[in-house]
Amino acid sequence: MQIESTTLWDFPRQNYGSRSHGNNKYHGVTPAQVIWNLFQRYTKVGDLVIDPMCGSGTTIDVAEELNRRVIGYDLNLVHPKAIKNDARQIPLQDSFVDFVFIDSPYSDNIKYSNDPKCIGKISCENKQFFEELEKVAKEIHRILKAGKIVGWVIADQWVKRKFAPVGFLMYQILEKYFEPVDIVCLTRHSQTSNTGIWHHRARQYNFYLRGFKYLFIMRKIK
Ligand SMILES: C[S@@+](CC[C@H](N)C(=O)[O-])C[C@H]1O[C@@H](n2cnc3c(N)ncnc32)[C@H](O)[C@@H]1O
Repeated sequence: MQIESTTLWDFPRQNYGSRSHGNNKYHGVTPAQVIWNLFQRYTKVGDLVIDPMCGSGTTIDVAEELNRRVIGYDLNLVHPKAIKNDARQIPLQDSFVDFVFIDSPYSDNIKYSNDPKCIGKISCENKQFFEELEKVAKEIHRILKAGKIVGWVIADQWVKRKFAPVGFLMYQILEKYFEPVDIVCLTRHSQTSNTGIWHHRARQYNFYLRGFKYLFIMRKIK
């Protein structure tokens, strides 16, 4: 597998290789090659990598395969090695970790669990959604070593005839704490609206289906 050379990453399948990385049945699972690419560029063997919202554990599995030390937290425990924790308060000391990957909720479109602390229960049309994600961004900034990278995946929303530029709003928050390294466009493939009827509706009622997610690659300056 070669590392990506452009800012358009298009992975037709969630997994790569013969072993599983995360669980492709988990709603909102991250394509494993996104994490594989970030590890190749921004980490080395033995580095400590953290995923504060690890879901089915894609980050844990890719990290272990590449011999990175890893801690995956989530409120919803799916992966056997995931640790229960709220991403707004990460139990690690300051300037301790070498890399963070996070694929956060981008609204209340997916039910991840019954945990009331799940940020995916708040609509992105409510400003509290961004206030809670800012707490997560601040925590990531606190635990990262200076000069190290966070990769943050998020997407926009279009529901009930209304567009919400979630990615741009999240970028504005991240910019308060980090400097941009680059922004990657991740092609979306397996969302439930990727059916003939939805493509027909999008043309007939003059809206667009979401075709991509953002991957913000940001560096902690100090
Ligand atoms: C898009 S999914 C992550 C998918 C994961 N990268 C994977 O590959 O399976 C977002 C995750 O955020 C978690 N989450 C939401 N609010 C949280 C919080 N306050 N603290 C920790 N995890 C949270 C959800 O339980 C969900 O698993």
